[in-house]
Amino acid sequence: MGWIIVVLVLVLLIGLLLYWQLILAEGTYLGAPLVALLYDWTAERYNKIKEFDKKLEDLTLGKPLANRLYRRPEGMVLDIATGTGRVPLTLFDQPGYRGQVIGLDRASKMLHVAQRETAGYQDRITFIQADAMALPFANASFPAVACLEALEFFPDPQKGLAEMIRVLQPASATHPDSGWLLTTNRVGWETYLLPGKTWRREELAKILNNYPLRHIDIRPWEDIYNLVWAQKVEFI
Ligand SMILES: C[S@@+](CC[C@H](N)C(=O)[O-])C[C@H]1O[C@@H](n2cnc3c(N)ncnc32)[C@H](O)[C@@H]1O
Repeated sequence: MGWIIVVLVLVLLIGLLLYWQLILAEGTYLGAPLVALLYDWTAERYNKIKEFDKKLEDLTLGKPLANRLYRRPEGMVLDIATGTGRVPLTLFDQPGYRGQVIGLDRASKMLHVAQRETAGYQDRITFIQADAMALPFANASFPAVACLEALEFFPDPQKGLAEMIRVLQPASATHPDSGWLLTTNRVGWETYLLPGKTWRREELAKILNNYPLRHIDIRPWEDIYNLVWAQKVEFI
């Protein structure tokens, strides 16, 4: 009888461990290839699960980003961990924005869905399968870089943040509307199960303040995320 209880407890513990690592943490502690594989498996269901509200997307993402690029309406935007193309989709719908977007992701099937979703904007979007930990771009390449709902799934979120800032072209006298960073930081009770993958608001502000960034704005956005804006400048 005793051994049956031991086996049951073991099975329960293993089940809880798997639930934590594969469902709640989405594979993040087990390596980037597994995270991408899990996203590949859910790619076709992703938009249904997320139920994006187009109006809210435009209001909180597309419009503010297009406004910030007001004097760079043709500036190229890099969307890291683009998923199914959320950022390009809302940005292309903004009449003020006429530029191109590069959507980068590690999961090929997410990119495949993104390609299908953005088919109407084929001439304005390029997809690249790559890892966010080592962006295949030179320093200061983009006037705006976005990365939504993904930092906590990167092997090293702080390095991910550094990579985004590295490829951002800083705002300058000639390009005052460059340097825009748009990202998210996970909040809520689940962050207790994601040690080392998220920051408290003050911690994140401190990290961002170590970079040449101004207009740092961290505010509640969705239930489990804060939305983060900042502008890279040449000197602070
Ligand atoms: C929750 S989805 C977010 C997608 C999109 N940004 C959105 O807001 O809908 C997370 C995305 O991050 C991608 N991802 C995770 N780790 C990555 C990595 N190391 N490099 C590139 N993409 C990664 C996944 O493949 C997935 O598409």
